[in-house]
Order: sequence, then C-alpha cells, then structure tokens
Amino acid sequence: MNTDKAILYAYDVVKKSLDDFYDCFPTEQSENLVFGKFENVSWTTGFYEGILWLLYELTEDKKFYRSAKHHSALFHKRLQDRVELEHHDMGFLFSLSSVADYKITGDEQARLDGIEAAEWLLRRYQPKGRFIQAWGAMDDPESYRFIVDCMLNIPLLFWASETTGDSKYYNAAYNHMKTSIDNIIRHDASSYHTFFFDPVTNKPLRGETHQGFSDDSCWARGQAWAVYGLALCYRYTRDEAILPLYTRVTEYFIDHLPVDFVPYWDLIFGDGSGEPRDTSAAAIAVCGILEMSKYHENSVFSDAAQNMMTSLSEKYTTKSFPESNGILKDGMYSRKHGHEPECTSWGDYFYLEALMRMKNKDWNPYW
Ligand code: GLY
Repeated sequence: MNTDKAILYAYDVVKKSLDDFYDCFPTEQSENLVFGKFENVSWTTGFYEGILWLLYELTEDKKFYRSAKHHSALFHKRLQDRVELEHHDMGFLFSLSSVADYKITGDEQARLDGIEAAEWLLRRYQPKGRFIQAWGAMDDPESYRFIVDCMLNIPLLFWASETTGDSKYYNAAYNHMKTSIDNIIRHDASSYHTFFFDPVTNKPLRGETHQGFSDDSCWARGQAWAVYGLALCYRYTRDEAILPLYTRVTEYFIDHLPVDFVPYWDLIFGDGSGEPRDTSAAAIAVCGILEMSKYHENSVFSDAAQNMMTSLSEKYTTKSFPESNGILKDGMYSRKHGHEPECTSWGDYFYLEALMRMKNKDWNPYW
C-alpha cells in the first residue's frame, strides 16, 4: 500500500473541517458519514485531539498544533469543571490529549492534567477485587465488574508512575492487567467483553457481553482492545508472562478475519453472514501488532497487519463520499444497540495511528 498517499488523504479530510471543530469535538460516530459537533463529554473526545497531534507530527502544519493546544485547554477545563470524570475511560480521554501534548511540547500544565486524570482513574480501583471498575457507583454491587476496553485505559496509570515516580499508579494498573489476563481472556484466547466479580467474596463470577453478539461470542473490538492492551502493558512492564498470551489472543483475532482481512463486528460472523464489519477493530489490532513488533517480531502477524491496512486504505475509506468529514467508514459502535456502519472517532484515530506507525517505526506513542 502507499502509506504517504493514505496519510495525505487523512490530512485533507481533517484539514477540511479543522475550523468546524476548533471549539468543539466530532460526535462519537458520524451520521450518513458526517460527524456533527459534540461537547467535551462521554469517552471519545480524546481521539480528535489525538488525530490533531498525529497530523501535526506528520506534517508540522502549525494549524493542527494550534487546534490541538486549544483542545488541550478544553480538557483542562473538563477537569476543572469535573465533567463526566467518574468512569474508567480517563485513558482514552487524557492519554491522547494532555499526555500527548506533554510528550510533544513538554507543557507542564498538560503533564499535571494527565496526572490528575490518572488520579480520577485510580479512584475506580477496587483493591479487594484487584481491578478497575468500569462504570457505576463504586459501592453498587451490580456494577462490580471490569471490561476488556480498560486495557487501553491503564497505560495512563503506567505513564503517571513513570512521570511522578509514585508506584501507586503502576501497582493498580499491573493488578488490573493480571486480573484481566486471569479472567477476561478465555481458555481459547478469545475474550469476554465484561466480567463480574462477587462483591462479597471477591471471587470471579461470570463474563457478560455489552456490545458483542452474545455472552459466549467474541466481540471483534473487544479482542482488538486485548491485542493492543497487552502490547502496551508489555511496553511498560516487560513482563514475559504477557508474551504467550499476546500471541494466542492475536492469533485468535487473525484466524477469525474474513477474506479481505477486515473483521465483522463480532468474530462469530464470517463471510456470507450478511453482518456489518467493524473497521475500527482492524485498525486497533494493527496498532497492537506494530507496537509489539518493536520488541518481538512475528512475520505472520506483521503480514496480517499489512493486509489489514491495505484493505482498509483501498476499500474502507470515505474517498468516494466527498461530503464526508470522516476518514474510515464501516465502523460499528454497537450493533446490539441498533447502530449502523459509520465513521467512528476512534476508528479514524487508530487508522491514522497505524499509518503513523507504518511511516515512522520510532514514533513515541501517546499511550
Ligand atoms: N470503549 C467502548 C467501545 O469500544 O465501544
């Protein structure tokens, strides 16, 4: 594939709507391939700032820098105003905004904002269960569960320990990782989406899906979160126990790809199922494979990553839809909740991150 051409397409799309989103964020997903305007709420707004930083790093175009800095200020305000901070998605939100800003510009306020976000995430840690609770009140027995997506939130904690020298963040992240490895990954290396513990005995109870097809199927994006999450955990911990598990989880994902290498929204579905795909799952998995390949090269996985990216860039961008302000179509937020294939804010981000990784193997991840 032509990586430069794919980056140029993303650049053109984002540049076209740079002014529209200067003081706001794109919606979680598009409608008819067009993102609307969104306040800084929910879990997805960090992806837009992440895209701005990626494009700034790729092109040195100051317009992206200015907009990214302005969005960092909006994240600072979110912390000050305490807007929807009581859930586990602090990593998705602040790794790609405040932490990215600090890593690129050295801005001390951005570093402090990243640490404050890590503090909010740490408040979700359940010490008896040794996991970070995803949603709900911390004393609500019905909410005593964690979800596979959180594997992308805990890098914020690893980073916070690195930057402060305080091991409390690392310990919570490490314990959460261990609890996830022991429970949310099944024996066949597929993953549950969410997993409940017994709030009285603190023993594992059961897996349950939220966005997958069924409790015992494997939600494609969940498996991709596991692939990339394990790679990022390895980056921070160098725990050798991660490696065989990462290999099996990634093999499961790759073995369930259809002919064109872009998964259906749940890995239970294959070609001929008539089900929609989830392009974002492919982009996330590619980022995980390219991250792990820095430490342990696996030629089968690298070939699969290349094939996924070729297919995404050739068949799944919005290039035939000039009215679109998104990059990657056929993302699936939640089929279970009735969503249709659309561009998603995270699909666009991970696709561009994957392109960055293909262009520059030494790129310093924001995670
Ligand atoms: N983290 C929510 C999702 O992947 O839809």
